[in-house]
Amino acid sequence: MLPFLFPPISRTRNPSKFSKSYPVRAAVVREQEEKEVVVEETFRPKTSGFNVQSQREPPQPDSDQLIIKIEQSINVFLTDTVIKVLDTFYRDRDYARFFVLETIARVPYFAFISVLHLYESFGWWRRADYLKVHFAESWNEMHHLLIMEELGGNSWWFDRFLAQHIAVFYYFMTVFMYALSPRMAYHFSECVEHHAYSTYDKFIKANGDELKEMPAPEVAVRYYTGGDLYLFDEFQTSRVPNSRRPKIDNLYDTFVNIREDEGEHCQTMKASQTPGNLRSPHSYADDGSKEDELSSGCMDTELHCEGIVDCLKKSVGPGLSKTKQ
Ligand SMILES: [Fe+2]
Ligand SMILES: [Fe+2]
Repeated sequence: MLPFLFPPISRTRNPSKFSKSYPVRAAVVREQEEKEVVVEETFRPKTSGFNVQSQREPPQPDSDQLIIKIEQSINVFLTDTVIKVLDTFYRDRDYARFFVLETIARVPYFAFISVLHLYESFGWWRRADYLKVHFAESWNEMHHLLIMEELGGNSWWFDRFLAQHIAVFYYFMTVFMYALSPRMAYHFSECVEHHAYSTYDKFIKANGDELKEMPAPEVAVRYYTGGDLYLFDEFQTSRVPNSRRPKIDNLYDTFVNIREDEGEHCQTMKASQTPGNLRSPHSYADDGSKEDELSSGCMDTELHCEGIVDCLKKSVGPGLSKTKQ
């Protein structure tokens, strides 16, 4: 950690900035107050109905491009390796495969929250919107997991053993990666979420007729249609709250909505790769304007750097001194 590179939250606040409001929807790319990263669309879904959020891509220095390329290449390699392992063990056991996937799926959001809590304790960052959205994402993934358990995906000891041990390893790996480079960690999660989207998409297309004849799990009906849907709206950062209300009449509907959730996660992870870009969908007023950031407990908009890689790069280059002006 490099505490000398992170300004305390109290010193970085600029009250005048927090009184602005922007007539934009949730998680739409912010006005250009800070540099954005170029994000390669390595994992655009081929069969999806959702649009990957467009991002402005200003010219980047070669050094940034190179770092992003390295980060993304490592992520692609890691994701492909895990997919090969899962393909080996779960070629013909769909629910067990989904159980393993969903056990792992919650982990990165918990890891992001852990690191953000730590940074907040040290007075480096305060990002309430990130904490809210990441918790809502993990809550959504937990319900996917409960659905798979109700479908019997966790009935074998070996599947539980494998999933739980991968989850522990994945947690520490994500904490390390997030401290090193939030952009890289979010991109890795985008890769994982895209794999989840594709997996469910193929499953639905191969088994659609059969799934329509089967009942929906109770936990799915309760999660998607019952009670307070605040957290359900909270993780869908490209949508206005209350704009998606699924019907769950059978198992087909259940899997369609799980797939759509994975698509939403994919978009949120993509948007998160641009520093400071993530907004809670509930942080916008009814007229579409953004709530005052201080009243929503939110952003430190004058970060000097994001993660160890960014801090090191800026400490030896012109970036940090430029930001301080
Ligand atoms: Fe999931
Ligand atoms: Fe997911």
